[in-house]
Amino acid sequence: MILNTSLVALGLLALTGVDATNVKVKRCTVKHNKNGKDDSENILKAFKDCSKNAVITFEKADYNAHTPISMTGLKNVVVHLNGNLNLPKDMKTVQDKINVTLNQPSTYATPWFYFQGEDVSIIGSQDFKWGRFNGYGQQWWDIGNRVLRPQLATFNVTGGLLRDLKVIKPIAWGWNLPGRNILVRNHFVDAMPNNGTRDETVSFPFNTDGFNLSGHNITVDGYYGHNGDDCVSVINGAQDIVAKNGYCGFSSHGLSIGSLGRNGAVHTVKNVLFKNWTMEGAVYGARFKSWTGGQGSAENIAWEDITLIGVSTGVFITQNYYDQDKGPRPPNVNKTSTHVSNMSFKNFKGTLGTNWTDGTCISDPCWNYVPGLNETKSVIFDLYAGTAVNITLSGIDIRTHKNSKKTNVICDPTALAEGEQDTLGFQCANGPFIATPIKKPGKPGKPHGKRE
Ligand SMILES: *[C@@H]1O[C@H](CO)[C@@H](O)[C@H](O)[C@H]1NC(C)=O
Ligand SMILES: *[C@@H]1O[C@H](CO)[C@@H](O)[C@H](O)[C@H]1NC(C)=O
Ligand SMILES: *[C@@H]1O[C@H](CO)[C@@H](O)[C@H](O)[C@H]1NC(C)=O
Ligand SMILES: *[C@@H]1O[C@H](CO)[C@@H](O)[C@H](O)[C@H]1NC(C)=O
Ligand SMILES: *[C@@H]1O[C@H](CO)[C@@H](O)[C@H](O)[C@H]1NC(C)=O
Ligand SMILES: *[C@@H]1O[C@H](CO)[C@@H](O)[C@H](O)[C@H]1NC(C)=O
Ligand SMILES: *[C@@H]1O[C@H](CO)[C@@H](O)[C@H](O)[C@H]1NC(C)=O
Ligand SMILES: *[C@@H]1O[C@H](CO)[C@@H](O)[C@H](O)[C@H]1NC(C)=O
Ligand SMILES: *[C@@H]1O[C@H](CO)[C@@H](O)[C@H](O)[C@H]1NC(C)=O
Ligand SMILES: *[C@@H]1O[C@H](CO)[C@@H](O)[C@H](O)[C@H]1NC(C)=O
Ligand SMILES: *[C@@H]1O[C@H](CO)[C@@H](O)[C@H](O)[C@H]1NC(C)=O
Repeated sequence: MILNTSLVALGLLALTGVDATNVKVKRCTVKHNKNGKDDSENILKAFKDCSKNAVITFEKADYNAHTPISMTGLKNVVVHLNGNLNLPKDMKTVQDKINVTLNQPSTYATPWFYFQGEDVSIIGSQDFKWGRFNGYGQQWWDIGNRVLRPQLATFNVTGGLLRDLKVIKPIAWGWNLPGRNILVRNHFVDAMPNNGTRDETVSFPFNTDGFNLSGHNITVDGYYGHNGDDCVSVINGAQDIVAKNGYCGFSSHGLSIGSLGRNGAVHTVKNVLFKNWTMEGAVYGARFKSWTGGQGSAENIAWEDITLIGVSTGVFITQNYYDQDKGPRPPNVNKTSTHVSNMSFKNFKGTLGTNWTDGTCISDPCWNYVPGLNETKSVIFDLYAGTAVNITLSGIDIRTHKNSKKTNVICDPTALAEGEQDTLGFQCANGPFIATPIKKPGKPGKPHGKRE
């Protein structure tokens, strides 16, 4: 038994890049209270005693993770989450504790769990009932409580593995990954209300993103989730990202890049591949979003082999985002935009839904409004003139909910960069989707630029 455990542990250490044969492995089992008391001290103690060259095991039990905790300075640590980590069921307790925690906030919220270090693996139970992070978010969604919400976790490590983890009814955002060289396998998210529907604001799971990725060399392989915001959101700083083999349901907001360039920020993202995803009931399949007046760039981004089932918009790019609930579009005083280059959308098939939005639409105009949006669309391009180049759509077979090929697109040809129509793969004009031939590189066609 003990021998067996050691072998498993050594194997996992090797997997995280350590020469396990030369290190002495320390072991800690995390204690848990049986009287409902907070286990956070027990968890912290295990991560302190076993912070280096170690294996930390949570037993098959419910742990009360009732205080935000920060586990830093880890090195060569494998964590076996054989039990569940449960946040407080009481909303006020969560709010009070988030209000005073010293955990380093991410740019959008403070994480309940913060991990930092080198070569850290967190491995959930193979048993679907265990390896869970229970957020008890339903009650927050039911009353639309969006004050002092935590993000679930930040995994800020170099060399990391997250495997077989389950996020159940999170309050809001899931995992934030600012680190490097990270592999995520077989991730599960249940952020679907027990009663509400995707079209209702009541009980809608606002901001329940699956992942925000801002690090380098991160692969998400295997994702199954229902939520009410992006499944995977790739944000400023991200580089060399692969997200593949996933399913996003309920009313996901898609496989997203951004938002980038808020308040004129210089933001960059490069080398991103989304491959083999099924998007069901999503507001977007693929989405790029940068703010009016942004700067920086997004380059070498691809979405491939995407199946759509009843989505609102298949392919979406805006370089002109603004806070639609805070009045009219601000003037682009600096005349800047986050540049886009080499972006491709390949093999999108499936159907659009009946509604062009979902329960998150609580402002007028809606946060997702672009001029002309009155129905579900296969493609929406809302470009800032001349700052998006080498965009290509190919293998697009997006149909209406009645399985008709007659879908519509929104695209302003005067905003296209010179020559862009030649390689775009569809007719840029407001109206039906019409595929067009793609000119091979090296044989530049007659430049179009601004036309009549
Ligand atoms: C958060 O803490 C501040 C004081 O630090 C307090 O003024 C505020 O009321 C608290 N917010 C909530 C919602 O408890
Ligand atoms: C994470 O993604 C969500 C959804 O796109 C977004 O609202 C949030 O601002 C992102 N976080 C950061 C740090 O940009
Ligand atoms: C991640 O950790 C590095 C130090 O290793 C630190 O500089 C950085 O601010 C951290 N980022 C986040 C989002 O916590
Ligand atoms: C990228 O991350 C993986 C772990 O997911 C690691 O095995 C690989 O060595 C990293 N690549 C580079 C170039 O660092
Ligand atoms: C779901 O149930 C909760 C609790 O009874 C209630 O507050 C909420 O309004 C319900 N949501 C819907 C969409 O009916
Ligand atoms: C579309 O959404 C609205 C609310 O946003 C809802 O009232 C309506 O029932 C939905 N329509 C369909 C066909 O789902
Ligand atoms: C695509 O992803 C699904 C999981 O969503 C997986 O079952 C399937 O094997 C993947 N297909 C390929 C070709 O990798
Ligand atoms: C315009 O540029 C100036 C100088 O870089 C910057 O301070 C300002 O925030 C920018 N304005 C907007 C709306 O982006
Ligand atoms: C365009 O991006 C793809 C990844 O999506 C990459 O493989 C390719 O090398 C890039 N092309 C150029 C010219 O940078
Ligand atoms: C939306 O607007 C387009 C262009 O004006 C029009 O062709 C289409 O019929 C409209 N769709 C609906 C559902 O009104
Ligand atoms: C666009 O693609 C062409 C042909 O592949 C290439 O020569 C050019 O450098 C690309 N431009 C940018 C800005 O990526």
